[in-house]
Amino acid sequence: MAALAGRRTTLLARNHAVMLASQLPRAMALRQAYAVRPKPTEPLVIDGTSYPRDAFTNATPTILDKLPRRLHLQPSHPIGILRSLIESHFSSFAHLNSLSPIVTVAQNFDDLGFPADHPGRALTDSYYLNERHMLRTHTSAHEVELFRQGLDQFLVTADVYRRDEIDRSHYPVFHQMEGCNVVDPAQGGIERLERENAEMRAALGAANIVIEDPTGVETATNPYQAEHDPRTARIIAEHLKNSLNGLVLKLFGGRAGGDGAEPLRVRWIEATFPWTAPSYEVEVMFNGKWLEILGCGVVRQAALDKSGVGHKQGWAFGLGLERIAMVLFSIPDIRLFWSSDARFSNQFRQGDITTFKPYSRFPECYKDLAFWLPEASGAQGGDKVQQWHENDFMELVRDEAGDLVEGVQLIDEFTHPKTGRVSRCYRFNYRSMDRSLSNEEVNVIQERVQERVTSEMGVEVR
Ligand code: PHE
Repeated sequence: MAALAGRRTTLLARNHAVMLASQLPRAMALRQAYAVRPKPTEPLVIDGTSYPRDAFTNATPTILDKLPRRLHLQPSHPIGILRSLIESHFSSFAHLNSLSPIVTVAQNFDDLGFPADHPGRALTDSYYLNERHMLRTHTSAHEVELFRQGLDQFLVTADVYRRDEIDRSHYPVFHQMEGCNVVDPAQGGIERLERENAEMRAALGAANIVIEDPTGVETATNPYQAEHDPRTARIIAEHLKNSLNGLVLKLFGGRAGGDGAEPLRVRWIEATFPWTAPSYEVEVMFNGKWLEILGCGVVRQAALDKSGVGHKQGWAFGLGLERIAMVLFSIPDIRLFWSSDARFSNQFRQGDITTFKPYSRFPECYKDLAFWLPEASGAQGGDKVQQWHENDFMELVRDEAGDLVEGVQLIDEFTHPKTGRVSRCYRFNYRSMDRSLSNEEVNVIQERVQERVTSEMGVEVR
């Protein structure tokens, strides 16, 4: 990072355009619309259900507005197109696309064996409605309930929510697909998997694909489950791998850059997830770079026991749709998926993977904001000063700026040699996907961010 230590960067001094006098009245009207709201106390009401607020509540209106969008259900949206393509690879599975994004903390974490101190549970990482209910952070949140309902082969496609940084490839809402396949060994299930393995192996053997798989043998760091006969565990793991190698071939075969004559390269990597063992990640070589596309593994018997189907065995995977869609459709900014601009949506047709043709990019507008972080400990009027966390800051920015902010980057940090206080300077990059932004409207947003970061996060603007 460039050393800008000691340089004074205030909001107003760093505006990159000057506001015209004629723009002032509109700016004032906008500012009123953004007038400080008292912290709400009434319950959150979503789809007719009421969720009382408590100390966990951190889901913002900006996020809750996304719940009804359901991009994966739009047949000619890249996310919807990709969903259909993946569903066609698992055509005999049940396809579930309308499960509510509101789940219990038990569904999202506890039932899957996440430890109490897992970082994913933190308020800084996940969106909570209250202590008991949250927005799912992954589609795995539905595994236990669906196994319990007796489903054996299913795909779940859904919107998932995670608090994150702001840049062109991160967005607090994205889409995942969960695939699960469990069988009953007492009903000939393992023999069926073996037969399917032989068929899939033959098809893959004839295809233009190179699979690097150092995880093929059981290792001490990624062992089979004690409850499993090693032969059975291997058959299930192979079935998982064959199914996913086949999927990757369907999605990327002949498209991974180059002239299509080059073989598609896939690699398997050891991973850890609390409810699978062994566990893996899959990467695909695309345009000369390894792209991580999914996590998967053999479902732990503890999760199946929890579902009341401990007599079954099988596998699960979860993949992120945006990341794959961005490379397959050449979409440069994740916010475009949420654009309602016809120049975006009219480019795509159901069933087709086509290359996105960018329309003119609108000009960007930079703003810098420098502030002292609150002192880590100490008390003010009896209130504990909250621990500063960057994700809370990002969330506040998203709440004020919505999709108009393209990136927020830390450009400078230094510690005052005498007081020990930490100063940070963030650069905001504003750009709309659909239109030109006026400097005045960006100023209004930026001022609101400054006000809120001061009043809600205890920083001191420099
Ligand atoms: N839910 C995991 C994730 O979001 C992926 C996963 C799904 C891993 C199923 C194993 C089994 O990263």
